[in-house]
Amino acid sequence: MMGIVCNLLLGFVEARSDKETVKKVLNEAGLSGKDFRSEKIYTEEEWQVLLDATIKVLGVDRDIGERMFAEYAVGVMADKFGAFFRSSDTALDLLRKVPKIHLDLPGSMGAMTKEKIKLVVDEENKLVYHYCSPNRLCTFLKVLTEQVFNYYNEIGYGIEETQCMKDGAEYCEIVITSK
Ligand code: HEM
Repeated sequence: MMGIVCNLLLGFVEARSDKETVKKVLNEAGLSGKDFRSEKIYTEEEWQVLLDATIKVLGVDRDIGERMFAEYAVGVMADKFGAFFRSSDTALDLLRKVPKIHLDLPGSMGAMTKEKIKLVVDEENKLVYHYCSPNRLCTFLKVLTEQVFNYYNEIGYGIEETQCMKDGAEYCEIVITSK
């Protein structure tokens, strides 16, 4: 996982609580004093330990934790990567670009990442993602998608997970529809 996302998670902990809680999370993860560099790739294990520690220290359930993190993350992303949001007229326009953004952004920072989100259906009012990752962040993905629709003030959209890695599927399938 790129350090940018690790830092986003720690930013979320600080925004929700305080700097002391960030230290507690790092301590719980066995990563005391660690500085994540945004452009660097960290192992998925390191990310998972960091996320587990966050969930434990905040005392929330995993799905709620992912939901809260996604709600926080969209605001920061829209700020930091405003150009992606401004260059898209609709939620679906942006969501269509997401798999490519995920490959291009690490590449532009000199990092190589695995393709975790594939766009397998691309129609005017419908997209289908296949999401495959050891991090199993499909709740995070779905809430981010929901937040993108909110960002564009669009209603009447659909986000349906038709199969999930957590139920033993090879990948999560997310069907996204707009009006
Ligand atoms: C448009 C601004 C966005 C930027 C710049 C961005 C960037 C990134 C980056 C750099 C990563 C780390 C990838 C890795 O190291 O493997 C990531 C992870 C992720 N992003 Fe985004 N992202 C954006 C929007 C979105 C949206 C809208 C969604 C939902 C559809 C999304 C879903 C995810 C998921 C699920 C992960 C975690 C993947 C995993 O490790 O399993 N992102 N994003």
